[in-house]
Amino acid sequence: MNTGILALGTYAPERVMTNAEFESFLETSDEWIQSRTGIKERRISAADEYSSTMAFKAVQNLIHRHGEKVLEDVDLVIVATNTPDALFPATACLVQEKFGLKAGAFDLLAGCPGWGYAIAQAHASVKAGLARKVLAIGAEALTKIMDWKDRSTAVLFGDGSGAAVIGPVPEGYGFKSFVLGSDGSGAGQLAMGCLNPRFPDGSPMPKSVYMNGREVFKFAVRVMNSSALEAIEKAGLKPTDIRFFVPHQANARIIEAARERLNLPPEQVWVNVDRYGNTSTASMPIALQEALDAGQIHDGDHILFVTFGAGLTWAASVLTWWNPPTATNLLEQGDRA
Ligand code: COA
Repeated sequence: MNTGILALGTYAPERVMTNAEFESFLETSDEWIQSRTGIKERRISAADEYSSTMAFKAVQNLIHRHGEKVLEDVDLVIVATNTPDALFPATACLVQEKFGLKAGAFDLLAGCPGWGYAIAQAHASVKAGLARKVLAIGAEALTKIMDWKDRSTAVLFGDGSGAAVIGPVPEGYGFKSFVLGSDGSGAGQLAMGCLNPRFPDGSPMPKSVYMNGREVFKFAVRVMNSSALEAIEKAGLKPTDIRFFVPHQANARIIEAARERLNLPPEQVWVNVDRYGNTSTASMPIALQEALDAGQIHDGDHILFVTFGAGLTWAASVLTWWNPPTATNLLEQGDRA
C-alpha cells in the first residue's frame, strides 16, 4: 500500500494588497519589489481571521470539492504553521473540533517547509498503521506578525491556507520519496523570538521577524537543487521523468534558478508568487491546487515538491499523481449506481 493526496482544498483572504500600497509608508517601489522578488500583490487576512479560521476555510473548500465523506477515517490532524493562534492549544485541535473529527491533533513547526514535513509525517503515519487517513494543513497569518516598518521583510509575505487528505492510493500511484533536512547553524538567518531572548550560542534572538535576505537566497538556490535531485534519485527517477514542478513560492528568481538547473521548461512549473507573495506553509498546496485547476497535472504525472525556510530547513518529495474523486464525479458515480 502506498499513500497519496486524496483531496485538496485552499483558501486565500479577500483583501488584496498591491506593491503600490507599500510606497505610501515605506521607502520602496513596485519596480524594486517586482524585479527582486516577482511579487505584485499578496493577500492580507482580516482582523478576525487567524490561522485556525483560514485552516477551517481550506477544509471547507476541500469538502466542497470532494464531498463530506472524504473526512471519514481521518485519524490525525496536522496543522503546519509558523503563526499558530496560540502557543497552546494546538491550532490542529481547533480544526479537529470544528469538523467533529475523532482524531489526534498536533501543530508542526518547521518554517516554510512545514507542509512538506506534514505530508511526510502523514505518509509515515498511514504506512505505519497509526492512522487510516491524515488531514495535513498549512495555514498562515504571517501579515499579523510582520514589522510593517521593515521594508526588507514586510513586502515579501502573505496569508493563506491549504488542506490535503493523505491516505491509501491505488497501486503505482502516490508518494515515491521524501527528503527532509535541516541546518540549525543558520537559525539566526530567519527568526522571530518568543520566550528565550538568546540563541544557545548567546547571540540575541530577534524580537520581530528578521531575515538575512542575501544569505537565505544563497541557501535557497543551493538546497532547492540538491534536495530536488536527491528526492528524484530516491524515487528511482531521472530529472527528465518529472512532469510538473510545484516549488515553494518565496521569490520568482529562486524558482527560476531551480527550474533552469532541473532543465524543465517554464510550462512545467507553477508560479503564483506574483499574486500571493510568500504564504509559507500554505504556498505549495495553493500552487498545487491552482495547477490542478488549470489542467496542468494529469493522472500518473510525476510531481516534484521542493521547499525551504526558517530553521534552516528544507523538504522535497516526488508524488505520482492519482486523480482523486471530486464532488462532481462522486455525484456522477452515485447517479450511475
Ligand atoms: N525596497 C527597496 N529597497 C529594499 C527593500 C525594499 N522593499 N528591501 C531591501 N531593500 C534594499 C536593501 O536595504 C539593500 O540596500 P543597501 O544595499 O543599501 O543595503 C538593497 O535593497 C539590496 O539588498 P539585497 O539584499 O542585495 O537585495 P536582493 O537582490 O538580495 O533582494 C531579497 C532582497 C530579500 C528579495 C532577496 O535576498 C531574497 O528574496 N532572499 C530570500 C528570501 C526568502 O526566500 N525568504 C523566505 C524564506 S522561506
